[in-house]
Amino acid sequence: MEDKARVAVMVSGGGTNLQALIDAQRAGLIEKGEIVLVISNREGAYAVERAEKAGIETHVVTRKACGGQEGFEAKCKELIDAHNIDLIVLAGFMVILSKDFVSYYDHKIINIHPSLIPAFCGDGFYGIIPHQEALKRGVKVTGASVHYVNEIADGGEIIAQKAVNVEEGDTPEILQRRVMEQAEWLILPVAVAKICRKIVKERS
Ligand code: GAR
Repeated sequence: MEDKARVAVMVSGGGTNLQALIDAQRAGLIEKGEIVLVISNREGAYAVERAEKAGIETHVVTRKACGGQEGFEAKCKELIDAHNIDLIVLAGFMVILSKDFVSYYDHKIINIHPSLIPAFCGDGFYGIIPHQEALKRGVKVTGASVHYVNEIADGGEIIAQKAVNVEEGDTPEILQRRVMEQAEWLILPVAVAKICRKIVKERS
């Protein structure tokens, strides 16, 4: 059997970063990894449709259905451990995970964040907000970061970053799209491929 790292992707929304991972996998760019599980915390998220279309086992796990954060994390753990997951990728996942959860999966969880950390990150900076704040502050360069997840929101070790120019007349939506196209969809698959190679190498 081919030795591949088993990857889970956690999503909440449109799932364009998940799509970038699926496309990279199809193109053979994540040669030592395989996405075997997708967990969405939101019912009806388009990311779920993308995962199902790609034939990936997908579960919708909501905090409401699990009676809160604790039950939600317990259900996610159950799924992740049952699938022998080596790497958990937060790809547009909008839930802050507890200290217990992240320390249980120490250096096994990575996240894509739509700014150049340490700018425009931390509690409350998610989705369109980092772009709104970047424009308000008048920065000329922003970008995206991939980092390990620890107990501090967006505070874990940085794995990859890519800068993107802010242009005259940008709206938060235009800037968000440019950051996705020029940074997120490129650096996330590359980071996942690299970590999967490392996981497989370390166990051989
Ligand atoms: C992406 O821009 C991602 O970086 C950001 O949300 C968007 C999700 O898009 N994530 C965060 O803000 C996490 N703190 P997607 O669902 O199309 O991948």
